[in-house]
Amino acid sequence: MNLSVDEDEGTTVLHMTGSVTGPDGEAVENAIVHVWHANSKGWYSHFDPTATQTPFNNRRRIKLGKDGRYAFHSKQPSGYSVPPGGSTDQLMQALGRHGNRPAHVHFFIEAPGYRTLTTQINFGDDPFAADDFAFGTREGLLPVPSRQGDSAYIQFDFQMQRAADADDEHFSSRARAEAEPQPKTETA
Ligand SMILES: [Fe+2]
Repeated sequence: MNLSVDEDEGTTVLHMTGSVTGPDGEAVENAIVHVWHANSKGWYSHFDPTATQTPFNNRRRIKLGKDGRYAFHSKQPSGYSVPPGGSTDQLMQALGRHGNRPAHVHFFIEAPGYRTLTTQINFGDDPFAADDFAFGTREGLLPVPSRQGDSAYIQFDFQMQRAADADDEHFSSRARAEAEPQPKTETA
């Protein structure tokens, strides 16, 4: 599946593949992988001040089959920072820290009988891979892409926990910013 609808000239193509398994190594059936990332300028669709991205660029829901395997390609994202010179940047500098995030990809994974997983991976070869100001990472979430020409390949496997109860399967009920209606879920 292709996540990147917009042309993003001159950027590397990201290929991600892997599996979703449960605590005993079983394939998680009928999972839905929600994936989203920034473009090569570090902007997300819906939150792009340049207004150059189409809705849902670099965002998809992928329905997996019985084998729990996923695959997608897109244009490699760039990292981003807090707005330079802004109040958060000033605060970070006063603390002797920076406000940079490495290139990364976000995921929600939901599946019947399993606890919904919220996670992300940082590109392991990004200079800020292990120095993410948002503390949004740990060892094990820093895959190093295999780079060949204009392509970057990441193989990454997710492991889910079984849901303790029905609430565990559900998304957080935290209020979120409004977005346009979502397109139909596509099948991998
Ligand atoms: Fe992000």
